[in-house]
Amino acid sequence: MDLKPYLQERQQRIDQALAASLPGADLLPASLHRSMRYSVFAGGKRLRPILLLAACEAVGGDPERAMPAACAMEMIHTYSLIHDDLPAMDNDDFRRGQPTNHKVFGEAIAILAGDGLLTEAFLLLAAPSAPLPAEIRCQVIRLIAKAAGSLGMVGGQVVDMESEGKTIDFPTLEFIHTHKTGALILASLQAGGVIGGADQSAYASLTAYGTAAGLAFQIADDILDIVGEQELLGKDVGSDQARGKATYPAFLGLAEARSRASELRDQAIAALAPLGGAADPLRQIAHYIVDRSS
Ligand code: IPE
Ligand code: IPE
Ligand code: MG
Ligand code: MG
Ligand code: MG
Repeated sequence: MDLKPYLQERQQRIDQALAASLPGADLLPASLHRSMRYSVFAGGKRLRPILLLAACEAVGGDPERAMPAACAMEMIHTYSLIHDDLPAMDNDDFRRGQPTNHKVFGEAIAILAGDGLLTEAFLLLAAPSAPLPAEIRCQVIRLIAKAAGSLGMVGGQVVDMESEGKTIDFPTLEFIHTHKTGALILASLQAGGVIGGADQSAYASLTAYGTAAGLAFQIADDILDIVGEQELLGKDVGSDQARGKATYPAFLGLAEARSRASELRDQAIAALAPLGGAADPLRQIAHYIVDRSS
């Protein structure tokens, strides 16, 4: 299978579904809805929704049934980026190849656009139009809420901020990465699995894959902040070092960080063995996560 057209086709379908699920830019307050749509449609790889759909398929499910959850995950991710870029956090000026949300709409609207996206995501998950039995829907809402909240992404962001400019130990570094980034990636795999009807063993495979791939993704992000090209990445480079961020390359050096990411990629792929050929897209995405240039 050729990953590039696969990713492009998925991105298009996800973008269409997102456009249909988000409040229209003409709805009041127009400034807020324009701001929400600005960041969602500024670009973005759509990795989390693609993983969610691929996980659903890997366990034999219909990816169309997973589309609302996939869109919800991208809304939550986009909210986390808008807030991550704020002056009170990473204070970055570029995201997805465009000026950051607060640079265009101001800080107050950027904060509220993030709040709006987070809340819309749960509205979408709970909507009766979602083609899922209530019990499955509740399970998905629970696991996504936990991954996004103080025990997941938000908690990771807090420790990331509190660790700026400090010498931290390795378990703290790993906590930051598995929470601020790993949690939403893992939840994408798990939600896709639940929607696709994964049995216990398939769910365990997706969980092991998501844990390893999520950590590998953030290590690659840290490496790209040093060696990546701003044009390709679409966001500021060098900002981790400037802010004294706790990153894998800062802790281990570039070469060691790279080999840790490759080890995690191999672990992720090994975990998919019981799923057979249906998990091929997930295998290729594991390579992409580590080898990407954007
Ligand atoms: C960036 O995520 C933030 C991290 C969690 C590292 P992505 O690299 O997936 O950003 P987009 O969605 O493609 O813009
Ligand atoms: C971001 O980590 C994690 C979240 C947005 C939750 P980074 O701060 O490293 O992400 P980038 O590099 O700005 O995309
Ligand atoms: Mg950050
Ligand atoms: Mg950042
Ligand atoms: Mg980064």
